[in-house]
This record gives sequence, structure tokens and C-alpha cells, in this order.
Amino acid sequence: MQTNIQLSPNYAQCNCRVYLHGSNEDGAIPETTASENDFIQRQRSLKKDLITLNRYDSVIFHYFIKTEEPASKKLELCRKAGSLITGEANSLAITDIALICSMQFRDEVMALAEGMALGNYQFLKYRKDAAEKKNSLNNIFICCDGVAQAEVNQLKAVVDATLWARDLVNEPVNKLNAEQLAESISERMREAGGKAEVLNKNKIEALKMGGLLSVNLGSIDPPTFTILEWKPENAVNTQPYILVGKGVVYDTGGMSLKPSASMDTMKCDMAGGALVSAAISAIATARLPIYVMALIPATDNRPDGNAYVPGDIISMFDGTTVEVLNTDAEGRLILADALAYAKKFNPKLVINFATLTGSASRAIGPQGIVAMQVNATEEFASLNQSGDNVYERLVQFPMWDEYKEQLKSEIADLKNIGGPEGGAITAGKFLEHFTDYPFIHLDIAGPAFIERRDSYRGQGGTGIGVRLLFDFFNKLSR
Ligand code: BES
Ligand code: ZN
Ligand code: ZN
Repeated sequence: MQTNIQLSPNYAQCNCRVYLHGSNEDGAIPETTASENDFIQRQRSLKKDLITLNRYDSVIFHYFIKTEEPASKKLELCRKAGSLITGEANSLAITDIALICSMQFRDEVMALAEGMALGNYQFLKYRKDAAEKKNSLNNIFICCDGVAQAEVNQLKAVVDATLWARDLVNEPVNKLNAEQLAESISERMREAGGKAEVLNKNKIEALKMGGLLSVNLGSIDPPTFTILEWKPENAVNTQPYILVGKGVVYDTGGMSLKPSASMDTMKCDMAGGALVSAAISAIATARLPIYVMALIPATDNRPDGNAYVPGDIISMFDGTTVEVLNTDAEGRLILADALAYAKKFNPKLVINFATLTGSASRAIGPQGIVAMQVNATEEFASLNQSGDNVYERLVQFPMWDEYKEQLKSEIADLKNIGGPEGGAITAGKFLEHFTDYPFIHLDIAGPAFIERRDSYRGQGGTGIGVRLLFDFFNKLSR
């Protein structure tokens, strides 16, 4: 379910309104009676930022922006306030809300609208009581002089894409296998005006993508390798930016079977594939002048009669041989083929997204993205800045060569696991082996899927990475 966001200079007819103020503002509060004003002042003295005036025929929110905070934190607080307002509005069966502020708070009002729309997300398609459970909030009207229609369109594109990525992650594997994922991604990319091609199992065999094929051996569903392209005529770059996303539609661990509890959320193991697809389609929808591609290798990972087993030696797309010592380290195998395949496009930069390691999740939890880079210092700095802007923050881990020692095999070029320590980094080092271009690797195992609601990030698939990439490419295109 999507919330409409639109510009509207006229809010008089809207009986639910949010007024934004600076935290140090002590002028008169607009459209309030003396007693309401009194109430607001008392709430303010209790350090409340969000104050609700329920007049029964109308509901008025006053939000006091934390203007003294750094921009990144200040905007995040606006998104969170937006999500709270959405919750209150839904509990009061409100359908329309107007957001009102002066020009100086244009960034803040956009962040508030973003938090509202993202916080209004629901995944109800498999519930009989969906109609009953559906949130009432439908329309957000932005009444702020400084905001341009083009900015609203971009916000809509990025919010829609984020919610679509959440939908894909929330779909279980019995509803979304590799072929269905590839189909869904391609359809959306074409609708957005970009190109999509799906390599089927025959083609993947012909290309000798041994990583993807080996992981797929235990599955009765064929693997897919999806290639998306957005190449506008006015692109600012000639070499493409390539996004790579892990598309493991379900990860049982394979023969190195996961314990039951660790498997519960493993439908989320295609979150990387979902988010890069969502981001590139948002870039196409917004017609950003950037040449971007996305590669999404996809399969489920299961034990079966013919499944790959620990001890197998497999040959990857680029000819590297890998001794498989844990079939649960499958993500790096399918990604290695995609990263090696990316070389043929002579990319300017490759950014990989994957729910790759429990180690990343244990290191920093759901609050951030574990990040590594090779020969991409400047691009990394810019991506890191985008992470702060959209509050999908990056934590840089080292890529020191010493970590590679752990991946040495006696009988093959590499083994697919390192030791018990530094697991997120050894996974990154494994991927690096298959690259020869500037490379950024982002491990989203922590934040991709959350079991309890966290403000506008919701519950279940978070759609993390979409807003990050959109901000990064939007900056590049300016
Ligand atoms: N998909 C998992 C990683 C994961 C864990 C994602 C938790 C989301 C939440 C990945 O394929 C995996 O199982 N990795 C192993 C690697 C190990 C065998 C070297 C892990 O992290 O335990
Ligand atoms: Zn695994
Ligand atoms: Zn996995």
C-alpha cells in the first residue's frame, strides 16, 4: 500500500495538520487558542517535541525541529516524528494530512513526509482481514513554499522503490523463487523505462558460472542471473556504475544446514538483489543522467540428493577453483561469478550489497552497514556522506592483505571460508579476488531484516540501501 505525497498550497480543507517549528522559536503558535497555547508551552517545558491538539473535529500536530542538532541527526528525528504521526493518524482513522511550514524548513518537511510514508507501510496480502487492518492514512499534502514538484517526484520514486524492496524481502520462497524474483525485477525495470535481461539455467551453464550452479545443485528450481541497465543519452559517465546484489531467495545453509532458529528469517537473503533492483528502477523513474547497471544472481540454497557438499572443489566463472568447506557460505560463491562477469563492462565502480555474514550483524547490529572498499577512496567518502544523509550509516572495515591468509587452500586456489574471527572481512577478501576495478562491498546482514518494528523502518524487510544509493547517484548527477 502506498501513500500519496503531493504539493498543495491550500490546506484549509484538511482537518489534520502538522505545523513545523524551529526548537528555539518562541513566537506565537499559528491558529491556536490561548488555552491551547498554554498547553503547548507546558508540553514544551517538559521537552516534548511533538505535541498533539485533538480538537475532535480536527487534529493538529506541532513538531519542534531539533535545529541545534547536526543536519543528519536533525533530519532523522524528523523522519521518526513522521512515523509517530502516521501511527497516531491511523489510530484516529485520519485519511489526509497537511504538512505546513516556512521555506527554511523544506528539507525537514521532506524528511517528515518520508518518515510518514515509509512508516505507513504494511504487508497484508496474505491476511483475510487485510481490509480491516489497512491503515487509514492515504494522502500527505506538503504546504511549503520552497519545495519544488521535481523534489516531490524524487521522494515518491525513492519511497515507492524502498517499499517495493520490502515487499520482495517479505515474500517467502514458496511465493517467490529465483525465476519469480527475476520476473518481478525485470517487469519493474521495464516499466521504469530501463532494460532487463534474464539469463536462464542453460545460459548460466554455457557461461560456466560454477559458483551459482553449485549453490543451485540442491534446488529443484533453476537459478537466474538478471542484468538491468539504465543508460540515458545524457549520462554524465561513459563507463557504467555496476550494482551487484545477492539473490539467495532462501538460505537453509545447504548441507552445512543452519540450526532451525537461524533459518527463520532466511527469506531475507535476497535483500541485496531486491535493493539494487529497486534503486536502479528508482534512478530510471527519476531519469537521473547516470549510466548504471545491476547484476542479480539468484537461487535458493538447500540440501538435497545432489546438493554440493563440504570438500567439493568447484570452478568459478573466471576459472578460479574453490574448495567449499561450508555450504552456508554460499553468498560469496554466487557473487564471485557476478563480480567476475562485471569485468567485461569495464565498470567505473562496482558496489556489492549482500546479507553476507552473521559476523557483520554481530559486529554492529541492525544500526549500520558493514562496508569495505578497494581503490575507491573518493567514491567511498561520497557514499559514506550519503549514508549520513539518509541515516543508513556505513562502518568501514579494513581490507588488509593479512586477512587473505585465512582463505588459502592446499588443493584449490581458494577456500570459501576463513577462520572464526573477522568473518565479515574474510568474506570481503574472498569477493575482492574476483574484482579488478574500484570496488565497494556492503554487508547488510544486520539491518536488512528486523524482527521488531523500528520506527519508519517498519518490521521485516527494511528496504535498506535504496535511499542510500539514490542519494549517492543523485549527488553524482548534479
Ligand atoms: N545468509 C547468511 C548470512 C546472514 C546471517 C544473513 C544472519 C542475515 C542474517 C550467509 O549465507 C551465511 O550463512 N554466512 C555464514 C558464513 C560462514 C559459514 C562462514 C555465517 O555468517 O555464519
Ligand atoms: Zn549461508
Ligand atoms: Zn546466505
